[in-house]
Amino acid sequence: MKKNKNLLIQPFLKWAGGKRQLIPQMEKYLKSIKYTNYYEPFIGGGSILFYLQPNKAVVGDYNKDLIECYKCIKYNYDELIDKLKEYEDKNNEEDFYKIREVDRKEEYKKWTSVERAARLIYLNRTCYNGLFRLNSAGQFNTPFGKYKNPNICNTPVLKALHEYFTNNDIEFRQGDFEECCKDVPKGSLIYFDPPYDRFDDQVNFVGYTENGFTRKDQERLKKLCDKLIDNDCTVIISNSSTSFIKELYNDKDKYTIHTLMAKRNINSNAQKRGEIKEVLIIGKREK
Ligand SMILES: C[S@@+](CC[C@H](N)C(=O)[O-])C[C@H]1O[C@@H](n2cnc3c(N)ncnc32)[C@H](O)[C@@H]1O
Repeated sequence: MKKNKNLLIQPFLKWAGGKRQLIPQMEKYLKSIKYTNYYEPFIGGGSILFYLQPNKAVVGDYNKDLIECYKCIKYNYDELIDKLKEYEDKNNEEDFYKIREVDRKEEYKKWTSVERAARLIYLNRTCYNGLFRLNSAGQFNTPFGKYKNPNICNTPVLKALHEYFTNNDIEFRQGDFEECCKDVPKGSLIYFDPPYDRFDDQVNFVGYTENGFTRKDQERLKKLCDKLIDNDCTVIISNSSTSFIKELYNDKDKYTIHTLMAKRNINSNAQKRGEIKEVLIIGKREK
């Protein structure tokens, strides 16, 4: 972890399940781990990557639009800023719905990656709760957020990110978490922040991708963690504190389960917005 961190290196999108608010509780665990390479296969808004600011990292996500956005910040920064500036006077309902519905039209297939990235950032700043939600056809369907002054083109943050990505060895991979971890070297730290296991009474949030994340996927992730630990890596996994997850990682030779308290921001049931327990699981060999 860098000593002199640039505080402008921070999430540029609001992202469901973002870990920023949990950093004060995670800090002591993150600081105590020594590693050579860093992998983060469920990058989302990137709060942990940006907190750690490693010089070398491989980060991934299944969400194509999201990874495209990160790549544009790295490789097409000036063009992206120009495009985003065009959106600055469009925080009104009429423009919002016009821009939102472009992905339902043929012309969207011809849009460049910069055009798509700028649209995603604009929608994220102006939609309700910054919730990235796709319907079953893969179309963005969150309603207008009615914010007074959303920061549509946050140049200082985007510039700091561009410089961080280009002055360091930060690689972006789109796809499934297993594919992202195909070449993890010994001694690496891998932080996994998958879509959370659902409590039995919980409303269905199937936001990030068209496919959802099932308990079979949670089991697949646990198997991968076992393999990585056997290869002398340290893994950290965030998840909800369900009996299923606690049972899955109930292997005291490899895993320690810590409890964190989180404020839930994005939940369609307003009455359920409160403090809830989450788990932070640390897995490593020498125990
Ligand atoms: C809880 S969010 C990560 C939040 C992130 N740590 C942050 O602070 O913003 C989970 C992420 O997993 C991604 N995802 C869902 N299924 C995936 C899969 N099979 N492989 C890789 N990423 C996946 C989602 O697109 C989403 O961005």
